[in-house]
Amino acid sequence: MTSHERLRVALGDRSYDILVGSDLVAEAGRHVAPVLGGKRVFVVTDSNLAELHLATLERSLDEAGIAYEAVVLPPGEQTKSFEHLEALVERLLALKIERRSAIVAFGGGVIGDLAGLAASIVLRGLDFVQIPTTLLAQVDSSVGGKTGINTRHGKNLVGSFHQPRLVLADTEVLSTLPRRELLAGYAEVVKYGLIGDAELFAWLEGHATRLIEGDADVRRRAVLACCAAKAALVAADEREAGARALLNLGHTFAHAIEAETGYGDEFLHGEAVAIGMVMAFELSARLDLCPAEDVARVRRHLAATGLPTGLDEAGGRVWSASRLLDHMARDKKVRDGRVAFVLVRGIGQAFLSTEVDLADVEALLTSAIAA
Ligand SMILES: NC(=O)c1ccc[n+]([C@@H]2O[C@H](COP(=O)([O-])OP(=O)(O)OC[C@H]3O[C@@H](n4cnc5c(N)ncnc54)[C@H](O)[C@@H]3O)[C@@H](O)[C@H]2O)c1
Repeated sequence: MTSHERLRVALGDRSYDILVGSDLVAEAGRHVAPVLGGKRVFVVTDSNLAELHLATLERSLDEAGIAYEAVVLPPGEQTKSFEHLEALVERLLALKIERRSAIVAFGGGVIGDLAGLAASIVLRGLDFVQIPTTLLAQVDSSVGGKTGINTRHGKNLVGSFHQPRLVLADTEVLSTLPRRELLAGYAEVVKYGLIGDAELFAWLEGHATRLIEGDADVRRRAVLACCAAKAALVAADEREAGARALLNLGHTFAHAIEAETGYGDEFLHGEAVAIGMVMAFELSARLDLCPAEDVARVRRHLAATGLPTGLDEAGGRVWSASRLLDHMARDKKVRDGRVAFVLVRGIGQAFLSTEVDLADVEALLTSAIAA
């Protein structure tokens, strides 16, 4: 068995490969070299990765004869800001980055989104490679070319579409990821099953424990399945005019929860998504679109892994349905004044709707708060 498998994101002359396997950080140099063709490389990472895995990456670049500089940023969502974007761009320019240079984003979704945005604007656009190191980044944010930062008006409101030239998803680096972060990423794995792959969901029901405990083969199969699904959605709808929006299952609720809790430590994004997916299923059941047993099955599986599934899991917080609705109305997924929801006809059968009556959403939120 080779140590990795290869998928293709088909986007014409911007197509690229996703490699999924173990040892990809240690072998990064030889995978990057043919794609970037002798370019000087600027590795953008955060201080957690710098401590744990940067030496391995640097060794592999050395072995491949690739000249590089590393720029280390602070970890955390706050780094996705104008302030850090400016500091990063100034640092890259001070290091004499030029058009024949490339950026390597080595980290979770925060580093990928920020470094990707920098790559899209420095010198009007440079090649970049994603080496995602969280489960969330491996199954979601590193594929598809969305980059961005947050502003005081909300998350991810400034950004660009800038596709990477290559994605290296090394499941081995996940061994150092804190369990809470791993679980938050697992919610996004479940999402792919719920959107369009009932078989994947059933497989996850039987394999989640092994995935979470670190079984390399299970992790690889899960990351591959998710990347294949994301690659297909991105190839069909690069700029999210339709099918790609299915990836937002649970996210309208999740963003409201995150906005209400100030994007703090109370809920990680994936945790809010877990609650949001259960709510999307509940809403669909209330609208007689989805069988109640599917709602119960989704909740049972997420809860069994240790993910939150209801608003009541925020110790002591007093929620307000109208405030959550306000956040939804301000979400960037609002189209022509209507909130877009991803609904389901059952596990693996998601569809987009802008026809949801907000009174039904309010009733759902009110009963979720009372639960
Ligand atoms: N661009 C997209 O399509 C897209 C999609 C989904 C999410 N996102 C964005 O992704 C971000 C969240 O990404 P995330 O969940 O990866 O968070 P993150 O990048 O903040 O990483 C989480 C934490 O884990 C640490 N870490 C990362 N890899 C590690 C490893 N292998 N071992 C030990 N520690 C490690 C990081 O330093 C950080 O402290 C959000 O900003 C979200 O908006 C973007």
